[in-house]
Amino acid sequence: MSEKKPVRITETILRDAHQSLIATRMSTDQMLPIVEKLDQVGYHSLECWGGATFDASLRFLHEDPWERLRKIKEKAKKTPLQMLFRGQNILGYRPYGDDVVEYFVQKSIANGIDIIRIFDCLNDLRNLETAVKASNKEGGHAQIALSYTLGDAYTLEYWTNIAKEIEQMGANSICIKDMAGLLLPYTATELVTALKETVKIPIQLHTHYTSGVASMTYLKAVEAGVDVIDCAMSPFALGTSQPATEVMVETFKGTPYDTGYDQNLLAEIADYFRPYRDECLDSGLLNPKNLGVNIKTLLYQVPGGMLSNLTSQLKDLGAADKYYEVLEEVPRVRKDFGECPLVTPSSQIVGSQAVMNVVAGERYKMVTKETKDVLSGKYGKTVKPFNPEVQKKCIGDAEVITCRPADLVPNELATLEAEMAQYKEQDEDVLSYALFPQVAVDFFKYREAQKTKVDATVADTKNGAYPV
Ligand code: CO
Repeated sequence: MSEKKPVRITETILRDAHQSLIATRMSTDQMLPIVEKLDQVGYHSLECWGGATFDASLRFLHEDPWERLRKIKEKAKKTPLQMLFRGQNILGYRPYGDDVVEYFVQKSIANGIDIIRIFDCLNDLRNLETAVKASNKEGGHAQIALSYTLGDAYTLEYWTNIAKEIEQMGANSICIKDMAGLLLPYTATELVTALKETVKIPIQLHTHYTSGVASMTYLKAVEAGVDVIDCAMSPFALGTSQPATEVMVETFKGTPYDTGYDQNLLAEIADYFRPYRDECLDSGLLNPKNLGVNIKTLLYQVPGGMLSNLTSQLKDLGAADKYYEVLEEVPRVRKDFGECPLVTPSSQIVGSQAVMNVVAGERYKMVTKETKDVLSGKYGKTVKPFNPEVQKKCIGDAEVITCRPADLVPNELATLEAEMAQYKEQDEDVLSYALFPQVAVDFFKYREAQKTKVDATVADTKNGAYPV
């Protein structure tokens, strides 16, 4: 116990914290004034990029996510920047050709990302291969995240075996990604101990406060030897977000796990974010409901975000009274789908199918395209086999894929380039377009219109006629 082993912290305030609490609406202007201070803390990394931040930047904030990354990098000179990456789906919802995955990794690193956390919703490691190789090639840190979930198949043996494979694949570290806050403190002791005995690469733990156990889970995980934990500055911590940075720092003070971070500096950072939190509470963007303990996530083992999706889907269908029936259907669908973890996009696919099964009054009478794709193997291999009866009912005699799904996706960068050529202002634009075609084009048009406005202003000024 006397040997010093400081725990390190990844700060999530610029990504997961605002994604979990305020629909990813924090703007670049809101972030930039505090980045230099965040950079002084000595964090392991600063998480600042991912699927939702990219999408929301373009769609709602009319900001170029690449520009945001470059601006953050300019001010965060010491701290590694980290992003979340959905394996072969990159930041989108479909498997992309290998050339797009490689180019995205290359450009992410070129624009400032140091650590790429790569996950797959089925934990099918074949879906991570291309991204890991590309990251290794570009000199990035490739972290593979295991989508944590519960179920018969998910034994300690399952987790240690997959960890060994990850290490052999050339990943630089492993993250246990617990998106629903299901990992309980004493289970964390067992899991982290087993992983530390199995692999040499560092182990990081990512969880959410949703079920109320997260900071206890971190305590036990740190005692068991976890290397890095994900925390959020207190104004955007707890609830559906992460445990609070300051609280974890104080907890380990004077112990062998002492982070050494300066609480006064952290207090200054919290002071910066607190008025914004109040603003978000006042405007309703931050819903106090998301700040409490939602014990249903433990009962139904679904992520908090999925619960709110189900509520809104049922409301749209005029079937809000079927909420609990759907919650009970979710684990059954998950079982039919080979007991997959529930994380983007599997959480949406399982959730939508559970809604259909209940609303139609007959299971798998109505089936989504995504359900058919999952049951045809197009998302990859699940830990357990699919329910053969359900598979037959949904896809009939259609062919089932057993290869790496992306082997069937041809290279597509050239086609994408041709489609968006008229809007291109920087190399990265083709990647924005690849991920969110319609949203990106809308943004490109907006960007163009802004420029015309500025040009007009400049021209008017030159002529001595100021715009009114
Ligand atoms: Co998360």
